Amino acid sequence: FHVTWDADAAEKEGYDHFMLKEIYEQPKGIHETLNRRLDENGIVKLDGISLTKEDLEGFNKVYIVACGTAYHAGLVGKYIIEKLAKIPVEVDVASEFRYRDPFVDDKTLFIAISQSGETLDTLAALREAKNKGARILSVVNVVGSSVARESDDVFYTWAGPEIAVASTKAYTTQLMCMYLIALYMGHTKGVIDMELYHRYIDELQKVPDKLRDMLADETTLMEIAKEQYKLEQVFFIGRGLDSAVSFEGSLKLKEISYINSFAIAAGELKHGTIALIEPGTLVLALATQDRLFEKMLSNIQEVKARGAYVIGLAKEGNRDIEKQANRVIYIPDCMDDIAPLLSVVPLQLLAYNIAKLRGCDIDKPKNLAKSVTVE
Ligand code: G6P
Repeated sequence: FHVTWDADAAEKEGYDHFMLKEIYEQPKGIHETLNRRLDENGIVKLDGISLTKEDLEGFNKVYIVACGTAYHAGLVGKYIIEKLAKIPVEVDVASEFRYRDPFVDDKTLFIAISQSGETLDTLAALREAKNKGARILSVVNVVGSSVARESDDVFYTWAGPEIAVASTKAYTTQLMCMYLIALYMGHTKGVIDMELYHRYIDELQKVPDKLRDMLADETTLMEIAKEQYKLEQVFFIGRGLDSAVSFEGSLKLKEISYINSFAIAAGELKHGTIALIEPGTLVLALATQDRLFEKMLSNIQEVKARGAYVIGLAKEGNRDIEKQANRVIYIPDCMDDIAPLLSVVPLQLLAYNIAKLRGCDIDKPKNLAKSVTVE
């Protein structure tokens, strides 16, 4: 009798790759990140974080700085914090921020987002902001990491260890932190209507179950992956929050499948990128935002008129997209503002399944590192 013990396989708990395991861990990570910060009345409490009403009223700007996927979480953060906390927010990639002379002072709340907490550029940007007097709040996954240690306050994501180079559960838990920070700031400053506040909390609480339902049926995504895995070029388009998510969807695909993938705000298409659309070009059109739905349908029409093959991504309730798109991936109905938590997941799975069919080394893509501690 002989037992072979494969530690690596055991850690993957039956999944073929860490990336897939981590995609499936998202409902749990999101649930933890949210519920550990809610009191019995459903009000956000930022345990250990000392940002008072006076502090918050003293800031005239928020600066979110990060790299890669964490930067994409920051793009969503800008949208939500400006809306709920009524304060201007700038977002920048750390490697640009640190070599500019950014307008930062003691009235700036600087938010660094980093899964590892060790990314050199993010750390350098944080130090730069600190020297200029900014208050530093970081959103970090790894407890006790350099970014965490050098911040005034740390807001941890409860994603658990993330092993795959392509970030998935760190991203969605970072998004959850953005909602919680925005709600906390809006509430503490007294600038958010409480009915709306509780609607956000309700909607956020429903996300883990909605994700579980989505993860239970991968049929459409598998079909699309089988049809499209040989392609060499993809364009992602979206407006508003969908534009932010399209950047992340495009990054996932290029990171692990090496397909030339490009994301652009849909309204910008006509200023150049549309020149690249030819018969058969694949366009992934995110259209989850009710307010911008008609505009997206027009953008889909524009690319289809040039022969594009369009995969739409929309809420269940917006079946009209079928009139324009060749294929549609649906997410459950939800409030527009929380759609990124749901819409990114089919894009992660699509990237995963395409990379798998292409025979790529999914957990360790070529030329990439999990944590970039050099310049
Ligand atoms: C690397 C990783 C990405 C990650 C980025 C920022 O490029 O491959 O997945 O988004 O670094 O990492 P951080 O740990 O700061 O979030």
